[in-house]
Amino acid sequence: MSRKKPDLHAAYSLTSPEDNRQLYAEWAGDYDESFASLEDYQLHIHTARAFVGAGGQGPVLDVGAGTGLCGAVLSGLGVGPIDATDISAEMLDQAMRKDIYRDAIEADLTQGLPVPPESYSGVVSSGTFTHGHLGPEVLPALLRIARHGAQFALSINAEHYAEHGFAEALQDMSTGQIENLTLTKVRIYGDLAAGPNKDDTAFIALFERG
Ligand SMILES: C[S@@+](CC[C@H](N)C(=O)[O-])C[C@H]1O[C@@H](n2cnc3c(N)ncnc32)[C@H](O)[C@@H]1O
Repeated sequence: MSRKKPDLHAAYSLTSPEDNRQLYAEWAGDYDESFASLEDYQLHIHTARAFVGAGGQGPVLDVGAGTGLCGAVLSGLGVGPIDATDISAEMLDQAMRKDIYRDAIEADLTQGLPVPPESYSGVVSSGTFTHGHLGPEVLPALLRIARHGAQFALSINAEHYAEHGFAEALQDMSTGQIENLTLTKVRIYGDLAAGPNKDDTAFIALFERG
């Protein structure tokens, strides 16, 4: 019996890191075409532009880098060096083919990151704080690997933001761990999108490590 092809609906229904690892292993080869191009995906562009607009600089960690779409935009805007981290070796293989990342770090973010503290001046993430993926509980692991003053630009699916306590987590961290928090709502997909999620929105959370 053949299994259904990976798609956004399946990705939003995932319930564990291991589910994520399995789905993205299958999806990696045609994620850029069957998802990003077809659905006119824009979130990686919003995230990278917000990072640069806020003055973000390298070295940058791209969290849940996937096939490297956000890193490619960042690199095109002159930011570097950029490292990619993701739970999926197959997605990271695709990212490294784009020849923009310095290093690939395969890791389950819910278990922390195998990176020395204060390694990065910037942290970006597009499309990974969303249904079936990561919640605010991983934010402390990201603060740990960021230098004081490091710029963050994280996309957070707007429904996921409301359902998983991001507001409270960011509020708690605003007592010294993070500074200058702003949230801007953007459309995840462009005008060419036709799927059932075409009108979905996300916040771009910009802040600095305190
Ligand atoms: C929707 S994709 C986004 C990829 C890319 N940033 C983009 O905008 O196209 C989500 C990514 O999060 C990764 N991911 C999911 N759970 C993870 C975890 N626990 N630790 C690290 N990465 C994870 C997946 O492997 C996948 O590559």
